[in-house]
Amino acid sequence: MAFERAQRLQVLPPYLFAEIDRKKKAALAAGRPILNLGIGDPDQPTPQFIIDALNEAVRDPATHQYALDEGDPTLRQTIADWFKGRFGMSLNPKTEVLPTIGSKEAIAHLPLAVVNPGDVVLVPDPGYPVYRASTIFAGAEPYIMPLTAANGFLPDLEAIPAEIRRRARLMFINYPNNPTSACATREFFVRAVEFARRHDVVLAQDAAYTELYFEEAPMSILEVPGASDVAIELHSFSKTFNMTGWRLGWACGNAEIVGSLQKLKSNLDSGIFTAVQKAGVAALKGYQRPEVAGLREMYRQRRDALVSGLRSVGLEPNVPNATFYVWVKCPEGKSSLEMAGLLLEKCDIVATPGVGFGQCGDGYFRFALTQTTDRIAEAVERIRKLGL
Ligand SMILES: Cc1ncc(COP(=O)(O)O)c(C=O)c1O
Repeated sequence: MAFERAQRLQVLPPYLFAEIDRKKKAALAAGRPILNLGIGDPDQPTPQFIIDALNEAVRDPATHQYALDEGDPTLRQTIADWFKGRFGMSLNPKTEVLPTIGSKEAIAHLPLAVVNPGDVVLVPDPGYPVYRASTIFAGAEPYIMPLTAANGFLPDLEAIPAEIRRRARLMFINYPNNPTSACATREFFVRAVEFARRHDVVLAQDAAYTELYFEEAPMSILEVPGASDVAIELHSFSKTFNMTGWRLGWACGNAEIVGSLQKLKSNLDSGIFTAVQKAGVAALKGYQRPEVAGLREMYRQRRDALVSGLRSVGLEPNVPNATFYVWVKCPEGKSSLEMAGLLLEKCDIVATPGVGFGQCGDGYFRFALTQTTDRIAEAVERIRKLGL
């Protein structure tokens, strides 16, 4: 058989991390003391009370059968209660909340539920690569919204041409932001909601990092008046509770958009393992516990160590108020791939080149705060020897 991958896979942007990945694997195989600051996956385990809840749930044979497509009612109610406590917003747990297999799954499937082939989807650059891929899978056209230091890493909505506004059906935004770690101002969320209402655009706010904050707690876009007419927010248990491998998140907001995603999903998957959903209930109910709230303090200490260390070696990091990423400007004249290559070759440090998040990410690289402060201090000393 002359096998060829489907065109929708062939037209995806090239995997720019491939070369760094290959070099990292070779370095590890050669026994070099690699310090991985590239990976956006918590180094700490899931808190024990959540593991206990999963253990208890899995002993009940009722959790072994197909889960309900619309999600466990207790989880949906618990999400609505948590949302009310955290953001002061009421959600109808039956129509405005939908558990998902992590937030990535919701991002990947949303365009299939709300856009038609040939429509435009507004996508931030640099950004989480799934926005662009899911747009392409739905036969739609990504339109890049550049995030630059000059505009605080917020898209310039005024700069979107009239023709694109007319064809746009969906806009992805993500605050707190990966990879830049920028937070949205209330004014930006208000402008984004106005834009979406004026142009009949579905507004999808990726809220995967709202709970990893160091100063002010980030708001939900659903707090903006009128947002529930146009917006859906995508939340995740992954980073808040160190549960990346469990695959649990939720979509919430406008009932018609949530309902469309649910209809699509009912044809694709058969729900989320019920025991995992029960563990999700325990996680949200334990949100105030020190094992969870303490994670913010842990990342804050790591952030302070990395930011001051990087400054001491002459680099210019953005100081994150949320997320566990530090977005760093490359020294003058170096591309992000060159800088990531240099860090790996000379310092045995893995960093993520900014260009992997889109062309506008070039000139930056990303460090993740997923190593202890001791390891971060060691990374800084290794970088110091480069004499930047
Ligand atoms: C911006 C952003 N959105 C969504 C996700 C997906 O998270 P999950 O599917 O684990 O909820 C990630 C993961 O790194 C991310 O960085």
